[in-house]
Amino acid sequence: MTMSSETLTVKHSTGKYPILVEPKSLDALGEQFERRSLKSPVGIVTNRRVNDLYGDRIREGLRGAGFVTRTVLMPDGERYKNLATVEQLINALLKQKMERNGTILALGGGVTGDVTGFVASILFRGVRWVQVPTTLLAQVDASVGGKTGVNHEFGKNIIGAFHQPELVVIDPEVNLTLETRDRLSGYAEMLKMAFILDPSFLDVLIKYRDKIIDGDDVNMLSRAISRSVALKAQIVTEDERESNRRRVLNFGHTFAHALEKVTEYKRYRHGEAVLLGMYAAGWLSNQVSGLSNDNWEIMRSILRDVPFDQQVDDLDAAKVVAAMEGDKKTRHDRINYVLLKRFGDVTITDAVSPTAAQLAVQAMKVAFSNSGNTDDESTSDANVSATGKL
Ligand SMILES: NC(=O)c1ccc[n+]([C@@H]2O[C@H](COP(=O)([O-])OP(=O)(O)OC[C@H]3O[C@@H](n4cnc5c(N)ncnc54)[C@H](O)[C@@H]3O)[C@@H](O)[C@H]2O)c1
Repeated sequence: MTMSSETLTVKHSTGKYPILVEPKSLDALGEQFERRSLKSPVGIVTNRRVNDLYGDRIREGLRGAGFVTRTVLMPDGERYKNLATVEQLINALLKQKMERNGTILALGGGVTGDVTGFVASILFRGVRWVQVPTTLLAQVDASVGGKTGVNHEFGKNIIGAFHQPELVVIDPEVNLTLETRDRLSGYAEMLKMAFILDPSFLDVLIKYRDKIIDGDDVNMLSRAISRSVALKAQIVTEDERESNRRRVLNFGHTFAHALEKVTEYKRYRHGEAVLLGMYAAGWLSNQVSGLSNDNWEIMRSILRDVPFDQQVDDLDAAKVVAAMEGDKKTRHDRINYVLLKRFGDVTITDAVSPTAAQLAVQAMKVAFSNSGNTDDESTSDANVSATGKL
């Protein structure tokens, strides 16, 4: 079997960095570090689960090339993506004699990447860092673009910095040890890229949905990851600091962040919340930004065909919308919605009433309710739109 391998490049204001997508690249980190003239000590930040799975391979590869490594562990879970963890990590790294000229390596999912990148951005006013994303979501999205940060009780990701990595190494094989819902979560972010940027990618994602979510075809996974990374890389190259173009990547995220917040970051994986958020944003797009009925029908069936099985019934639409008020994408007291005009064409608007947003959440609940059946759901969805005053 031939293994597919690809190197993509992200350009930014002060340089560029490679993103290597290659099976077994986890074992070749030493060579990659040498190529980029990265220095010891290498402060590896990870959590226990990922360390048990991949820590030794990473350390062996680096030590084999003469690098000195130090490993610090952070707790597992979105609820630990906060300033307290940042402080704990900085303390642990300093105790382990981390140096300004050394390298910080984030080994883990998007939570580890976001927190570690933020630590790298503030420790010694900036340490060089490398990302080795180990979830599908982190590989296709979180590890690309240099956005780092943590959550605050006032909202998700509202404390952070742009800090570009020196290198991103993606080994598609690590997805095999993920829970199925984590591959589903990454799949949802790939769908987002396709809806907003590349409708032809949708065909691939529909065709190979089960293979991606089951994770048993590494070559196919590699190709889907590369394609998704290429799409994101292009956007972040155009707009490094999210002044404009990059905001399209927030499609579905205003709702998603609120859903994560009202469920205290415990119920949904980020990508699961994005799946639900895209449904709400798609529904709104059909109501207010001209997404055709045909496109919306396709979109809603793609989203509903994803084998998502977490609870939505008890969500309070008013509370979800209230939580959106605190999100950092709110400017001048109005929420900015990223909506579709058609597949591949996005608009950003604040002309959406809280009532309309609540109806969108309601429609999403009906669509993903575990108790309903298909006929009832479409009737209720139609009722929601008929009664909705936008
Ligand atoms: N910076 C960005 O541009 C950006 C973009 C998208 C998402 N994000 C952030 O990413 C986060 C979500 O990331 P996530 O979905 O990776 O969640 P996560 O980091 O919590 O990982 C999910 C679970 O998978 C485990 N895990 C990681 N790799 C594994 C492996 N190979 N095998 C088995 N288990 C493994 C983790 O320990 C965790 O329990 C959110 O905080 C989100 O805000 C950031």
